Amino acid sequence: MAVILGIETSCDETAAALVTRDGEIRSNVIASQANLHARYGGVVPEVASRRHLELVTPVIREALGEAGATLDDVDTVAVTAGPGLIGALLVGVSAAKALAWARRLPLVPVDHLHGHVASLFLEPLGLEPPFTCLLASGGHTLLLDVRDRAWEGVGVLGTTLDDAAGEAFDKGARLLGLPYPGGAALDRLARNGDPEAFSFPVARVPGLDFSFSGLKTALLYAVRDLPPTELEARSADLAASYQHAIVRALVERVAEAAEQTGRDRIAVVGGVAANSALRAAFPEATAAPLALCTDNAAMIASAARYTEALVSPAYLTLDAYA
Ligand code: KG4
Ligand code: ZN
Repeated sequence: MAVILGIETSCDETAAALVTRDGEIRSNVIASQANLHARYGGVVPEVASRRHLELVTPVIREALGEAGATLDDVDTVAVTAGPGLIGALLVGVSAAKALAWARRLPLVPVDHLHGHVASLFLEPLGLEPPFTCLLASGGHTLLLDVRDRAWEGVGVLGTTLDDAAGEAFDKGARLLGLPYPGGAALDRLARNGDPEAFSFPVARVPGLDFSFSGLKTALLYAVRDLPPTELEARSADLAASYQHAIVRALVERVAEAAEQTGRDRIAVVGGVAANSALRAAFPEATAAPLALCTDNAAMIASAARYTEALVSPAYLTLDAYA
């Protein structure tokens, strides 16, 4: 078997995966540190780095085991070089360098955002460009013109001026008393609520950019204005209305972007692409498979298929970027 070993440690997931050149996933192991960071209400970078250090080798071993493979089957090592938490990234980059050097394998540095887009190129989906892509995660909100599977063939049409969409979900969840990271929990709570119960406006900024920071202030005021006895009874309505505002903002902008580029094929990727209301609001769009929305290493190995490899020893000077 000839496979690419992907390694991802940019935030709070330690992940390793084996993927074939044809984009078939042989294994995809994710060790989430979310519980470790929950009590701080967000990711603590130094805590994340230390945990990655403990987990990276066992996670790689598990990815090999799950696929029934050994290091002899790996012909390329791919790793997220950035953007992300610098200390966390360095753990993955160092592990990748050590493995590639020991086995004299080529190493592919992958941009994390390219990875999210490349989640669409894996089998059985195997989406072919061109398309307009919404990348919405905890760290980024981007509207992309995807002309090619290589990262050089992807243009940025718009981005957020303040909070990322996932960040807006997480901050809203926190105001509603949900534990970090609250996006998925807010999604579940919202299923029992009325999206029209509260009116939360989303700022419209010029061009194809987004702004979500005003929204959380609106939720803060709504929560503050409710008598504490009512807050619990209305929390599902608050969640549904808040989610509705984020989803509407995303859907509107994507429609405008598609109109501008003339590419009416639309795809959504990143952690927020797992949101049930967003998926329902975009019946015509191709959403990344649920298991590949949040951070994983299969998408990193997938992106490596369209990225130039560094041969030994050129990659020994490779650095991570925040
Ligand atoms: O892509 P990702 O794993 O990490 C980054 O690259 O940032 O995205 C994580 C983000 C978090 O903000 C999380 O709350 C959000 O995705 N998320 C969701 C859902 N599942 C994850 N947001 C809304 N609804 C969901 N179902
Ligand atoms: Zn991500």
